[in-house]
Amino acid sequence: MGEIIDGKRISAQIKEEIRIRAIEFEKSHGRKIGLAVIKVGEDPASAIYVRNKVKACEACNIASFAYYFDANITQDKLVEMICILNDDKRVDGILVQLPLPQGIDERAVLSRILPEKDADGFHIVNAGKLFLGEYTPSVACTPRGIIELIKSTGVEIAGKHAVVIGRSNIVGKPVAMLLLANNATVTVCHSRTRNLADITRTADILVAAVGKKKFVKADMVKRGAIVIDVGMNRDDEGLFGDVDFDTVKDVASHITPVPGGVGPMTIAMLLKNTVDGAFNE
Ligand code: GUN
Repeated sequence: MGEIIDGKRISAQIKEEIRIRAIEFEKSHGRKIGLAVIKVGEDPASAIYVRNKVKACEACNIASFAYYFDANITQDKLVEMICILNDDKRVDGILVQLPLPQGIDERAVLSRILPEKDADGFHIVNAGKLFLGEYTPSVACTPRGIIELIKSTGVEIAGKHAVVIGRSNIVGKPVAMLLLANNATVTVCHSRTRNLADITRTADILVAAVGKKKFVKADMVKRGAIVIDVGMNRDDEGLFGDVDFDTVKDVASHITPVPGGVGPMTIAMLLKNTVDGAFNE
């Protein structure tokens, strides 16, 4: 059986380092580092993520400012709120939980956050910098966490074939860029990819960000591969990843569980972006 990559343990170490830096900041600046979190509408998964992010702030000596809006808020009002937070000296990072309700232009909203306060790394400037290999002020949290998890195995990324399933702006595309920056040979697969299993079976590192419960089966994975499961699929039976963990764990050399793999790392990286941003102001 492959080794389980313990995202909970690794993220706890990172959060402890963040907490120490956040205490240092408070001592030297006379205020806490602040993260504003905006949630719009009643998406149940978003409610869980936002609650966990606020809790993580508390644990790391970071002040959180949470704003919850009805799904019928206008885009203009939302932008107005972002402008207020851009000017608020107590706020070092701003995060708008996605997805936003239909009718609101996500890109337009995210682009109104000051790039220096973009805790998620979703602003068009920060996405562009990632493309160019520049990682300040922030890099998308889940991709950044995935790289940390791969590095925690001690297996070298350079020269490996990394296959990413999924091409979203928040996971697939940015993680492909980071893997490339780490000198992997990268293939990005998606819903229109032909012969998907033929490609995934050649992966030394397989990142599944599909959004389909247990989509990756053991016969799609090369023996000894590192498998990173980004899936968060909730149904009546519970929370499931994109990987069929019970069978794939016997083929992989290292594998992340769901929950307790990528999820906690995303939050740790969000706090890291926020703290880095605060010190760089
Ligand atoms: N929705 C799913 N993942 C994320 C994330 O990392 N940040 C935000 N803001 N929304 C998300």
